[in-house]
Amino acid sequence: MEDIVAEGHRRNEARGITGILLFDGEFFMQTIEGPAAAIRTLFSKIAADDRHEDVVPFFICEIEERDFPDWHMELLEPGETAKILPDMKKFNFSYRDLRHVQAMAAEVATQKRAKRVYH
Ligand SMILES: Cc1cc2nc3c(=O)[nH]c(=O)nc-3n(C[C@H](O)[C@H](O)[C@H](O)COP(=O)(O)O)c2cc1C
Repeated sequence: MEDIVAEGHRRNEARGITGILLFDGEFFMQTIEGPAAAIRTLFSKIAADDRHEDVVPFFICEIEERDFPDWHMELLEPGETAKILPDMKKFNFSYRDLRHVQAMAAEVATQKRAKRVYH
C-alpha cells in the first residue's frame, strides 16, 4: 500500500492527475481525473498491475471540473472508507450512488487534511 500511494502520488503530480483511493481492507475503489491521454495510459497500467485483480471501470466521462483538485493520490484507510461505504462488496453501480460516494470521499479527505494542518 505504501508503495502504491507514494509512487502514485509522485507520478500523478507529474502528470496533472488527481484523485482518491478508497480501500476497505480487501477492495479498492479509485477515482482518477486529468488529461484524457494521461488517464488512458494510467488506467491501462493500473488494470495490468498484478498487485490486484478484476479491475472494473464504473464510469468514464469528460468533466468540466475536478472533484478532487487538491489530491494527487489520497488514500482513505479501511476505517475512513467504512464511513462512506460500509460494505464495498455490495456496491451496485448507479450514477447517483457513485456521485454520492465521490462527494462523501471529498468530504472525508477535506476533514483529514484539516486535521493534518491544525493538530
Ligand atoms: C489499486 C491501485 C491503484 C493505483 N493507482 C495509481 C495511480 O493513481 N497513479 C500511478 O501512477 N500508479 C498507480 N498504481 C500503480 C500502477 O499500476 C503502476 O504500477 C504505475 O503506474 C507504474 O507503472 P510503470 O512502472 O509501468 O510505469 C496503482 C496500483 C494499484 C494496484
